[in-house]
Amino acid sequence: MSLVIASQMEESFNAELRGHALAPTVISAPEERPWEAAQDADVLLVRPAPAWGRIKQSERPQRWPGRLRWVCSVSVGVDFYPPWLLDAPLVTCGRGVASDEIADYAIAAIYLHSKNLEAVRARTPAQWKQAPLERVTGSTLGILGLGAIGSAVARRALALGLRVTAARRRELPAPIAGVELYRDLHEVIASADHLLLSLPATAATHRLIDAPALASARPHLHLINVARGSVLDQQALLAALDAGRLAFATLDVTEPEPLPLDHPLWSHERVRLTPHVSSNYTVVRHRLLDKIAANLTRFARGEPPTDIVDTAAGY
Ligand SMILES: NC(=O)c1ccc[n+]([C@@H]2O[C@H](COP(=O)([O-])OP(=O)(O)OC[C@H]3O[C@@H](n4cnc5c(N)ncnc54)[C@H](OP(=O)(O)O)[C@@H]3O)[C@@H](O)[C@H]2O)c1
Repeated sequence: MSLVIASQMEESFNAELRGHALAPTVISAPEERPWEAAQDADVLLVRPAPAWGRIKQSERPQRWPGRLRWVCSVSVGVDFYPPWLLDAPLVTCGRGVASDEIADYAIAAIYLHSKNLEAVRARTPAQWKQAPLERVTGSTLGILGLGAIGSAVARRALALGLRVTAARRRELPAPIAGVELYRDLHEVIASADHLLLSLPATAATHRLIDAPALASARPHLHLINVARGSVLDQQALLAALDAGRLAFATLDVTEPEPLPLDHPLWSHERVRLTPHVSSNYTVVRHRLLDKIAANLTRFARGEPPTDIVDTAAGY
């Protein structure tokens, strides 16, 4: 019998899935009630659609997970979804699909902050004057969350001559030679000139970067958040920036998204906001399709797919 996939992806993506060697039947899962299509499917392919925000607090459907055998999230983070959605025989995520793009964004943020060429751009003889630029080589990048994204940034940073310190959740060695791993995130923050937040949004990381954590920062620290707005206490960030305990923040993610019109982060002179775009690149879609196709093959053979979510840990 053919595998039935209920998909929240657009029709052109679904059409490509139908071209898989397994010739799966791909049906469309309605945005507001995707679990209804899942009653007739083996696999539910979910994306972080805006509707999940409305569904998130919803009650577990009576027949969940029904015949479903696999919930496949195209996003890495599974924090968008109601907790019951993750109570399925198998849950996977899109880990690694956009790590290179996000790592390039983080490195761009580091250079933009340290070597701001626009700020020293000379258009007239009067602007032909000396101005200090900061160092990148020899500076320290602290990374909180050394997974697919953190590792992709670490590899680049080490190659560029930065020292890299990091913390992860599990007591495992650093996956990359040359990264100095600390158990205590305060030590990572204290060591850093640039601090990357690349942690998942879980119960354990909710507002993990709060006022006491930011108190460990050196005054010239540049904080980069590509994770989720919820891992950072935004009020504590503003207070630290205004008190001179932190120099600058590059934020690709906020809580909520977008921020309310009158939120001070929009116009703060030492904050650069980008609209959750760090992963944007057209190749990402092809990588996602390749990952799902490879996992469908494994699944059909009875082998475990890659990037299984530890639903108890939340990532
Ligand atoms: N801005 C964007 O467009 C965008 C795109 C993709 C993802 N994201 C966000 O980025 C997050 C990370 O993505 P990823 O692909 O790197 O995920 P990942 O490969 O699962 O890595 C997550 C890392 O965070 C660490 N971690 C988890 N809980 C922690 C805790 N309480 N304290 C310290 N470290 C902790 C994990 O530690 P272990 O290594 O010990 O497990 C792991 O190193 C995602 O969950 C998502 O929220 C944002």
